[in-house]
Amino acid sequence: MKTFINEISNIISEKFEQCGYDKEYGKAIVSNRPDLCEFQCNGALAAAKKYKKAPRAIATEVVEALNSNEVFEKLTIEGPGFININIANDFLNKYINYMYSDKKCGCEETSNPKKIVVDYGGANVAKPLHVGHLRSAIIGESIKRIAKFLGNEVIGDVHLGDWGLQMGMVISELKRRQPGLTYFDSNFKGEYPKESPITIDELEEMYPYASKLAKSDEKAMEEAKEATVELQNGRPGYMALWKHILNISVADLKKNYGELNVNFELWKGESDANNYIPDMVDYLKKNNYAHTSQGALVVDVAREDDKSPVPPFLVLKSDGAALYGTTDLATIVQRVQDYSPDEIIYLADKRQSMHFEQLFRAAKMTKIAGEDLKLQFVGFGTMNGKDGKPFKTREGGVMRLQDLISIIKSAVKTKLDESKTIKEDEVEEVCRKVGLSALKYADLSNQPTKDYVFDIDRFASFEGSTGPYILYTVVRIKSILAKVAKADDDKILSPYSDTERKLMLQLVKFSEMVELSYNNKLPNKICEYIYDLSNAFNKFYANNKIVTEEDLQKQASWINLLNLTQKVLTTSLDLLGLETCERM
Ligand code: ARG
Repeated sequence: MKTFINEISNIISEKFEQCGYDKEYGKAIVSNRPDLCEFQCNGALAAAKKYKKAPRAIATEVVEALNSNEVFEKLTIEGPGFININIANDFLNKYINYMYSDKKCGCEETSNPKKIVVDYGGANVAKPLHVGHLRSAIIGESIKRIAKFLGNEVIGDVHLGDWGLQMGMVISELKRRQPGLTYFDSNFKGEYPKESPITIDELEEMYPYASKLAKSDEKAMEEAKEATVELQNGRPGYMALWKHILNISVADLKKNYGELNVNFELWKGESDANNYIPDMVDYLKKNNYAHTSQGALVVDVAREDDKSPVPPFLVLKSDGAALYGTTDLATIVQRVQDYSPDEIIYLADKRQSMHFEQLFRAAKMTKIAGEDLKLQFVGFGTMNGKDGKPFKTREGGVMRLQDLISIIKSAVKTKLDESKTIKEDEVEEVCRKVGLSALKYADLSNQPTKDYVFDIDRFASFEGSTGPYILYTVVRIKSILAKVAKADDDKILSPYSDTERKLMLQLVKFSEMVELSYNNKLPNKICEYIYDLSNAFNKFYANNKIVTEEDLQKQASWINLLNLTQKVLTTSLDLLGLETCERM
């Protein structure tokens, strides 16, 4: 079946056509005046221009043709010719039962599945995972889940930053501290040790130290750059050292991302593009796509109609070193070769939008990305502190993700303790789930491009548009269902009251909302939807005594309705990367 709104649109379109107008004018939308009607069709106004007729006259003709229809409870013409629509209970009910019987609650899988690579996470090896990478992981995971749910084949790749200057910084710093290590002896021919010479804690201390030093000390910066080029050229000792750093870093990252319930299909990084660079550079030169400018190899990507200048895309620096863009372009070569994807979706801070504009242009102009390969950038804003600046620790440092999660968990814990409904051995697990819901929902409920302010009290609140509120609604449904017997049949009957009808009207929007959210890469649409759905459910719940209802037929229908509501909420939460709990 189609989305509910499409079903309605089709019926109206048919009548437009029957009255001699183009079908396209029959599109229905959810009413922007819910106090007046549930849906509306504004097509008569547009049709009036084309057919040079009064819009009200067209609307009247169409409404007359529609009036014998069982789909509508009420049709009125308002203002210049808007058709206001209220849906008949029977039609609403039919769709609700269809949703209830359907595995995906009425969400159809695409008839044209795509192979999609989602490039998200983007943590940098050797640097601790911080809140800057939080958004990429959270939003990317959600987009990936939605794409999969709609039937696409999706590969998530963490695309680690493991090949840049930070690696040279750590290597040269280690050389200053422990010059005697075999990794630095260029004459060494034996096997390098299996154990890493440094731990993750040492690494976390070493990078910020080296990075700060390089800013003030020219010699240190030179050494870092030199080490980077040598690593990229494959110097064996540096490669061995780099592998150790990569391994300890990845183990730590896996733990961190795992805690966030973010899971990647691929753990590739910038370094994996290295093998593709020489051939790519040859190809670019041979086909005259790239030329040398001030010693560097560049691709001109500016266009005549550019409103502001778009600088050339840098392929290689004058010292031959690969840049962020080099590995990104070579990664497209690799992805095309290995997966031939239809789409690649990138998630990164919106301040990188110029980088991706240049990259996409370069990939298309050089035919590294074929015409059919869709490249898309989803840029996101910053999580700020209350001072409006990027969120920091109290000491002014970068907040580590691990610490952030702990803060959220303890904020949630104080609230849970008040209710005392949770057994001791469950507390940890419940805090994790509720805490994550607070953090991730707060992030996802904002439109990705917008900055937002970190406000722990608001995020962790059990009221309002928050993760804990939604989770609590699910817990409430589960606890009601636990108190009643299973329904004998699986029918949901026509609504008995206005609050029940409103709940149904909210439920039927599910598939349309998922499509909208996916097409626009806006997980916040799911948050808006489940917040409205939870409100609609809680109103229904406040107005009806479900557990003690004596009319067993009515009660059975409500049990089924609750099951459907729970499934839609749980599925939506899963699309956001959130887990539900039994009690909280
Ligand atoms: N590592 C990068 C950063 O920390 C993000 C990577 C985004 N993905 C990409 N293919 N460039 O900013």
